Amino acid sequence: MTNEPVLLARINKANSEKLEGYRQDGGYQTFEKVLKEKSPIDVITQVKDSGLRGRGGAGFPTGLKWTFLPKDHPGPIYLCINADESEPCTFNNRILMEKDPHQVLEGIMFACYAIRSQTAYFYIRYEYGHAYRILQKAIDELYSAGLLGKNILGSNFSLDIFLHRGAGAYICGEETGLIESLEGKRAWPRIKPPFPAIEGAFRKPTIVNNVETLACVTHIMRKGNDWFKSIGVPPDPKNPRDAGSYGPKLYCLSGHVNETGCWEIPMGITARQLIEQYGKGVPNNRKVKAIIPGGLSMGFMTESELDTPLDFNGPGKVGCLGLGTAAVTVIDDQTSMIDVLHNICQFYAHESCGQCTPCREGTGWMLKITDRLRRGQGRQEDLDILVEVADRIGIMPGTTICGLSDGAGWPVKNAIRKFRAEFEDAIRTGRRSNLKSLTMAGAH
Ligand SMILES: Cc1cc2nc3c(=O)[nH]c(=O)nc-3n(C[C@H](O)[C@H](O)[C@H](O)COP(=O)(O)O)c2cc1C
Ligand code: SF4
Repeated sequence: MTNEPVLLARINKANSEKLEGYRQDGGYQTFEKVLKEKSPIDVITQVKDSGLRGRGGAGFPTGLKWTFLPKDHPGPIYLCINADESEPCTFNNRILMEKDPHQVLEGIMFACYAIRSQTAYFYIRYEYGHAYRILQKAIDELYSAGLLGKNILGSNFSLDIFLHRGAGAYICGEETGLIESLEGKRAWPRIKPPFPAIEGAFRKPTIVNNVETLACVTHIMRKGNDWFKSIGVPPDPKNPRDAGSYGPKLYCLSGHVNETGCWEIPMGITARQLIEQYGKGVPNNRKVKAIIPGGLSMGFMTESELDTPLDFNGPGKVGCLGLGTAAVTVIDDQTSMIDVLHNICQFYAHESCGQCTPCREGTGWMLKITDRLRRGQGRQEDLDILVEVADRIGIMPGTTICGLSDGAGWPVKNAIRKFRAEFEDAIRTGRRSNLKSLTMAGAH
């Protein structure tokens, strides 16, 4: 398995964000070549054949998504870059944007050339002020160098990239919420179909891709598919629907570890390896009680599940929703799962956009019940009520518009199923949370 970093290869260089240094390291040479030698369909085919799957959370095959655009569409086609990155403990996009923005911008240029888009909207989380300023400078450098604008390098290809600051809400990261927000409206996700590839931004065909996905496109075009497929995990031969987990991946690590950070690692590292080799273990010789594999919405893995590979399939095999953002949060054995779950429920009750009754009310109920539990006022039947509510909200049971509510339900189901004894014991003994503040967060 190759482990030569590419995504983070340049981040410790002086002025790594500048065009000059990026070009000295070979940047934009492949783009110039592709512009001369390859057709848009060649680029789509290469990205499709590379096996690249989206890094934004769902792992959808990138090249395949690009083929969903209508053929020979006469009007504009848009690319939206999803840099909303609001999933708790996730900061892999931020590092790419702040430290090596040109590899992301080159990926955007390949993508726009492939899908025949002349306009890209870079939707960046409002709180990322530093990344916003770095990106704007990098975009300005590209216009000055003739790499953006009309007839780039004398070709027929023209492209404008517009930065758009987000609206400060988690739901702005859901692709149709993002599009609504980009259009100047409240970020209420749209009912699908139609999917954005058919009717997206300003009702035109639109592709939404994550920042890390597009950075991977740059390296696929530069180094080729054999290189990309030499990294990561091939498809499971026993599962005909598995597209594999190829390529490098940025893994974030936070919570109860001695070293927090973001590392580029071939897909498929286990949670235990990540914690021990990269996180240098748990502080004070404590043990891991649970981890969250990739953002709160993925649920929990227990200590006995830590040898699960963190690829697109692994977390699902132990009952998690998926790999998500690969931002691993470690919870030690001194931490109350009731407190953790209450904290998560607070987040979702706050971030639900409120359009769908099951999500709006369900996240509120789950918050009220977990608040009762941590006050030592829980009842045994509360556990079944929590699971019932969590089971009934979401796209999967078919009761809501977007996946926020699946994400809200999953940690609840996982926590009760995997740590039921701890919950039952706390209820039986009337144990209160040891948190200093016992304030009830405002449900809707
Ligand atoms: C509630 C919610 C929040 C999301 N937040 C993000 C986000 O911050 N960044 C992101 O790339 N994808 C996010 N997604 C996934 C996007 O809807 C979309 O699938 C993704 O941007 C596609 O990019 P990819 O194919 O390159 O992974 C979110 C999804 C949901 C349901
Ligand atoms: S599921 Fe929740 S967040 Fe998504 S649209 Fe419905 S109410 Fe809004």
